[in-house]
Amino acid sequence: MPFLFQAYPLARAALFSMDAERAHELTLSMLRRTHDCGVTRALLTRRPALPRTVMGLHLRNPVGLAAGLDKNGAYIDALSGLGFGFIEVGTVTPRAQPGNPKPRMFRLPRARCLINRMGFNNDGLDAFIANVRRSRWRAEGGILGLNIGKNADTPIERAIDDYLMGLDGVYPHADYVTVNISSPNTRNLRSLQSHDALDALLGALRERREALADQHGRRTPLVIKIAPDLDEAGIDAIAELVPRHGIDGIIATNTTLAREAVRGLPYEDEAGGLSGPPVHALSLTVIRRLREHLGRETAIIGVGGIESGRQAVEKMQAGADAVQLYTGLIYRGPELVNECVQALAAPTA
Ligand code: FNR
Repeated sequence: MPFLFQAYPLARAALFSMDAERAHELTLSMLRRTHDCGVTRALLTRRPALPRTVMGLHLRNPVGLAAGLDKNGAYIDALSGLGFGFIEVGTVTPRAQPGNPKPRMFRLPRARCLINRMGFNNDGLDAFIANVRRSRWRAEGGILGLNIGKNADTPIERAIDDYLMGLDGVYPHADYVTVNISSPNTRNLRSLQSHDALDALLGALRERREALADQHGRRTPLVIKIAPDLDEAGIDAIAELVPRHGIDGIIATNTTLAREAVRGLPYEDEAGGLSGPPVHALSLTVIRRLREHLGRETAIIGVGGIESGRQAVEKMQAGADAVQLYTGLIYRGPELVNECVQALAAPTA
């Protein structure tokens, strides 16, 4: 199997000659076929181990898959063969929705970035839960995060209803639940990060989680996912509200609206969120500031622009407890997972 990983640069040349979203779909279906033949299972014995406990969850290693790559939770087992310590799928919305018109995903290879404005395209909560229930990853000890959002046509004043519906649905099937309030591609979503809106949302989630914990006999960790474009006052408001409402962690960060790092490159003007290396420094700033305010009992998952083991280490040094990857996988391939685990295991990390 490692030879398959090393062959990624060859596969990448072919994939990069296609439309980005088409290449994405093809990669996932090839990965599933490889998994179904039992090829990725052979790798399980060689899966990198660097056990960590985060939010009471026992991770095989602290390198996870970020949300958005598998929006419907349809490829969880196929992705499990890549060596992740935890996998997050979604964002799922209560009702199925098509997302934005295509094209809506763009590569900027000279900067190793992507711009996307997918707009939470997904098959809805029922299909998502059916997929999650079919997967074997959790039964085999894998940690699964389920990421929830709101439908595009739900007015922002009613966003809480969508998140509560999502929480009710995913709760019994998740090791942790991520409340995504930071996609730039759903109108006004990021306004939920402001103090009063967040206070109301987290208050409602806290109350519902208590009821669900009683009902299911298990307290599932809740985390919120935030943007890299917050100012200091915005970060401080989040750092104050999260522990107050008993939220277990923060994922920092989602994609950025900033474009300085990609000026002059094709597609720089496309609307959407930019991911890849320019997000690394932005997310480090957010993580450092959060960590200054938060005690160790609030977990931070660092994500944004990790494309080498060194950057994974930098996320941890800034105060993260675990990291996630997305765009780096597209440019570097699955070998990046192993590289990050090895770097984090090094005595200097
Ligand atoms: C994303 N991301 C994302 N995040 C999320 O919480 N829900 C989602 O549905 C998506 N969808 C999505 C689609 C695409 C095409 C990309 C590139 C990204 C954001 C992702 O999880 C991550 O936070 C950012 O991409 C920053 O990390 P990287 O990609 O720089 O490692």
